[in-house]
Amino acid sequence: MSTTPVKVAVTGAAGQIGYSLLFRIASGAIFGPDTPVELRLLEITPALKALEGVVMELDDCAFPTLAGVQIGDDATKMFDGVNFALLVGARPRGPGMERGDLLEANGGIFAPQGKALNEVAADDIRVVVTGNPANTNALIAMSNAPDIPNERFSALTRLDHNRAISQLAAKLGVPVTEVKKMTIWGNHSATQYPDIFHAEVGGKNAAEAVGDQDWIENTFIPTVAKRGAAIIEARGASSAASAASATIDHARTWASGTAEGDWVSMSVCSDGSYGVQEGLVSSFPVTVKDGQWSIVQGLEINDFSRGKIDASVAELADERDAVRQLGLI
Ligand code: NAD
Ligand code: LMR
Repeated sequence: MSTTPVKVAVTGAAGQIGYSLLFRIASGAIFGPDTPVELRLLEITPALKALEGVVMELDDCAFPTLAGVQIGDDATKMFDGVNFALLVGARPRGPGMERGDLLEANGGIFAPQGKALNEVAADDIRVVVTGNPANTNALIAMSNAPDIPNERFSALTRLDHNRAISQLAAKLGVPVTEVKKMTIWGNHSATQYPDIFHAEVGGKNAAEAVGDQDWIENTFIPTVAKRGAAIIEARGASSAASAASATIDHARTWASGTAEGDWVSMSVCSDGSYGVQEGLVSSFPVTVKDGQWSIVQGLEINDFSRGKIDASVAELADERDAVRQLGLI
């Protein structure tokens, strides 16, 4: 086992997602069985007691990869020297709400956290925002951390990516491992665009394998885009274990790279690729090598896809304007 632990901060650690996420990180799910991790868990003061209980449970697992745990309510202390920050802590939406309705309530969390990361995180810091509205919260954190390169900030659309893979595999009656090159474009919201025109199933084009535009438009896309709401409706609480699992997938891919011949969906700061306004944190198909992501270039975008991408990006631009009005960026 290597000796220097990777320091991983998790915010909202006493919440629902935290309760799944911490045990996966501590057991080596991001960096593998040979890399020790040190957890830095940030919560608001009233949740610290509950968090102490979670830490007792972490101790009781005796994970060989868990090198230490610190908890606290001061971002500057918890983020000191961290290599990864998983920003989960934020209020979830309830029934009948859209994720954008959380902008005002949650946006205010991410400006001070961006500033604290800017001040004290390690030079190689990588930030994953899971707390909703994830894309715009990532934009807020990024904008408040001028000394950290923009490409170190990202938001989670891997859950949507995984949902899309699962729905497509079920439709075609194949294992999920047969599905490659899935793409989520745009915002982690109901306007997101899960695109199967470039996806492959068993090496063949997925849209052709499906051969049913009506299913793509009226079943597949809405099922994936509204899955979060369907889970809230069924469970009475927003997705947690699957969100934790996707957060792990996202961080693991960032740390260890994408597989040859495949890509993943990550929300990252746009460089203007595919006509997505520069500076917005939007979901793209990306490959990752040596800890650096790159947007997959050269994909042909048909008219149907163009309209869907543009609509979701327009929503991101509206959210950016709203947080600008609130003085958060
Ligand atoms: P939860 O309410 O169970 O937990 C949130 C935790 O965050 C609470 O313990 C709360 O005390 C803490 N918190 C609040 N403000 C904080 C702050 N300033 N600093 C540190 N901690 C803070 O919620 P949850 O179900 O764990 O969901 C967390 C967030 O993740 C929500 O915004 C939810 O909508 C979002 N989410 C995103 C995705 C995605 O795919 N991007 C998926 C599922 C959920
Ligand atoms: C999800 O996609 O499950 C989460 O973003 C929670 C939500 O509000 O939908």
